[in-house]
Amino acid sequence: MQSTAAAQPQNVSATERQQLIENARQMLDRAYAPYSKFHVGCAVLTEAGNTYTGCNVENASYGLTICAERAAITAAVAAEGPEMKLRAVVVLNSQAVACSPCGACRQVIFEFGPKALVIYQAHGGLAEATTEQLLPAGFHF
Ligand code: THU
Repeated sequence: MQSTAAAQPQNVSATERQQLIENARQMLDRAYAPYSKFHVGCAVLTEAGNTYTGCNVENASYGLTICAERAAITAAVAAEGPEMKLRAVVVLNSQAVACSPCGACRQVIFEFGPKALVIYQAHGGLAEATTEQLLPAGFHF
């Protein structure tokens, strides 16, 4: 049986966390969410040390909606290229409800940062986990 090495979580300082939280919060006003009214903002920190942000972008054809996490990650790849690696992902919403990345976004985060730190709103405050904790045995090629 094949075993998977345990994830070594990324070291992300308190200052970096606070900055990412602020960047994600600023995205809440940019969200295009006329259908759900659920605004989501995301900020990602790359191994190159850059921050990229995204918000959810909905569509009248609901299934075409892009989550905030995938918007931020695609912006990061567009800016840095295919070697882009994630150190941290912060996702916040405007309604103070618990919301961790959806399954599709977990797989996309896994592609670029299996050991990334993921910070998200949980019941009673922010929670954090590594990507591999959120998505054990994620798919890779
Ligand atoms: N959404 C995100 O952007 N990220 C998540 O992690 C969960 C859900 C968005 C998609 C949709 O626009 C709205 O939240 C309601 O599902």
